[in-house]
Amino acid sequence: MAMAAKPPLGWNSWNTFSHEINETLIKETADAMVASGLKDAGYEYIVIDDCWSLRQRDENGRLVADPEKFPSGMKALTDYVHSKGLKFGMYSCVGTRTCADFPGSFDHEFIDAETFAEWGIDYLKYDYCFKPRSAHGPTLYRRMAMALRNCGRDILLSACNWGNDNTTEWIRSTGAHMYRSTGDIIDSWQSIKEIAQSQMAMQKFAGPYCYNDMDMLVVGMYGKSHNSWIASKGGCTTEEYKTHFSLWAMMNSPLMIGCDIRDMSEETKAILMNEDILAINQDPEGRTPYFCKEWDHEPDTVVHMFKPLENGDYALGFFNFYDDVCGGHVEFADMGLPTRGYGLQLYDLWEKKDLGIHTCKFSVTLPAHHCLMLRAKIVKL
Ligand code: GAL
Repeated sequence: MAMAAKPPLGWNSWNTFSHEINETLIKETADAMVASGLKDAGYEYIVIDDCWSLRQRDENGRLVADPEKFPSGMKALTDYVHSKGLKFGMYSCVGTRTCADFPGSFDHEFIDAETFAEWGIDYLKYDYCFKPRSAHGPTLYRRMAMALRNCGRDILLSACNWGNDNTTEWIRSTGAHMYRSTGDIIDSWQSIKEIAQSQMAMQKFAGPYCYNDMDMLVVGMYGKSHNSWIASKGGCTTEEYKTHFSLWAMMNSPLMIGCDIRDMSEETKAILMNEDILAINQDPEGRTPYFCKEWDHEPDTVVHMFKPLENGDYALGFFNFYDDVCGGHVEFADMGLPTRGYGLQLYDLWEKKDLGIHTCKFSVTLPAHHCLMLRAKIVKL
């Protein structure tokens, strides 16, 4: 079955829990995914990241789930997640060890794919630490992709080599369904901004069946993490999380939630379950946005993005990366709209408000780090 026709949606343990993972957490997270409404909103994968296994393989060369963290075993946990109507994901690494020094899949790709299939997993995040220097990175992704594609289950491959080694040139051909096109995110505005700005030039490489992964969301973390590095800047404001979510949605990134979904504020729920923004991310055509940065400030302070949608509408995103209020206007002719005879019927996706029909241009003033997300219908006047 073809996977990742749309950007995958789910949750991953790393941002908040790091090494502090166990079967109770995963079960409670699966329960929360359903009870909170996230599942109905479209989120489907529950993924455990690094630190789930024992430090050594067993005598048959198989990976072993840590029995203290996962006393019922992985198969039982997968069954539980599946019983909730969700899919289950795990993590391994191209190299001899994972980034947190657990066994990696180097030279064990087929046996590991077999193990994952036996456990019933649906998703594999595949990292890039401890790659033997002589080994060829693309071949290692190809090998795991080949193993997964022939293990008897549909397992989505989420490559994670942080955009290193000219990933864009070879990643689609490996068979990976998404690939990390950036380094690691941390829970700070600076990190969100740097990642978003670095990804604008990368849009030409994104598309259905192999999306650019801008890394897991930090929405709703508010500085809470067992990983002191991820929490080191103290978190973001709700408006910054909205901007973050909008940017990831506009640029077709997979949306993998990174906060503790068992304990979300109403603001966090409203962001993660904004169905209009999710619809932009999940638009069936998966078109990449185009950009317009002409505003009379430093380059890249305010960015406009326009994304064609399947039904003829356009998503319009205005993002203020500047640390102060910023204003300006967009000329619809820059989007391609004729200067006469046509206008845009605008709808504000965060305020859920119809803004009426506008012709020729639209003026926007945004406080620091805020965004405006609109859906535009082309109307004949
Ligand atoms: C990094 C990866 C993170 C997380 C971590 C686990 O390489 O980018 O997302 O998976 O390893 O050790």
